[in-house]
Amino acid sequence: MEKKIMLTGDRPTGRLHIGHYFGSLKNRVKMQDEVDECYILVADVQALTDNFNNPEKVRKNVREVVIDYLSVGIDPEKVTIYIQSMIPEVAELTVFYSNLVTIARLERNPTVKTEIAQKKELFGESVTYGFLGYPVSQAADITAFDATIVPVGEDQQPLIEQCREIVRKFNSIYGEVLREPEAYLSETKRIKGLDGNEKMGKSLGNAIYLSDSEEEINKKVMSAVTDPSRIKKDDKGNPDICMVAYYHNLFSTKEECENVCAECKAGTRGCVACKKQLAKNIADTLKPMREKRAYYEAHPELVDEILIKGTEKARKKAKEVMAKVKKAMKLDYFDQ
Ligand code: TRP
Ligand code: SF4
Repeated sequence: MEKKIMLTGDRPTGRLHIGHYFGSLKNRVKMQDEVDECYILVADVQALTDNFNNPEKVRKNVREVVIDYLSVGIDPEKVTIYIQSMIPEVAELTVFYSNLVTIARLERNPTVKTEIAQKKELFGESVTYGFLGYPVSQAADITAFDATIVPVGEDQQPLIEQCREIVRKFNSIYGEVLREPEAYLSETKRIKGLDGNEKMGKSLGNAIYLSDSEEEINKKVMSAVTDPSRIKKDDKGNPDICMVAYYHNLFSTKEECENVCAECKAGTRGCVACKKQLAKNIADTLKPMREKRAYYEAHPELVDEILIKGTEKARKKAKEVMAKVKKAMKLDYFDQ
């Protein structure tokens, strides 16, 4: 049986929020017990492709993201957590793969296209070579570990397709060395923001972070968008257009959700009480994560140790793959 090797990661550009939790973290916690090898990279090099002018932000968020991982239950005994920039083999592979992909193909990549359109302020009319080429670097991330399963959001699927193309091209020229990965889409779809926006994010100011305090959670839930036609307490409401009801479905028991819906529709439930109940349920769900975070924040040396160990282990694996690649590409000059 072929080994199941899972690899995924995040750009360290901010703390992780409940959208990340339902969209990817929860799934990773489950997957860590189901695969033979599991890697999670903190993609600092990729983060620099659109934050090259803000290295301090990237640096600061590397540890924040790792603490988020640990606080949701990603177990460093099962998962190798490492820093992308500390694996030079990945940068080397990126250079080799850059011959196997055309500029036109990168420009057509839907993920890259959308992102370039969103980053007009940074790039102006002309995008950098590094940003345009980040799918090549992501293909290196994946193949440097022989990864077979890459859990990603739907928006990232074209990047996996691009990686598969690079793998096929490499193998057709240099021999069957690389493995073609599969994208694994988690069942949960994207979680909407507190304002009803399709996307939850820092720049939109509509996110609840895993590290938010109870007070912050309360404040944010109080500002959530509800049925705008409900003015008086006994007005009949429509939970289908209320973000509070939407989040009750994620954080409250089935029975509570049914009550919310029925009482809202009947006009027997007040929005303030409804929000308070939700805020409490969110705070209760996130409490163990907050406690774990506090523990690691008080013991930064443990976080460093996990990263150093993970990076060492990752490097060893990437070196093995690199040896195979160099041999296939006739770059193994003194190894015979
Ligand atoms: N592109 C991913 C993101 O923006 C991060 C990432 C970098 C990644 N390398 C990866 C994801 C390899 C999966 C596999 O979140
Ligand atoms: Fe939303 Fe609850 Fe108010 Fe209904 S009662 S509109 S579900 S906050």
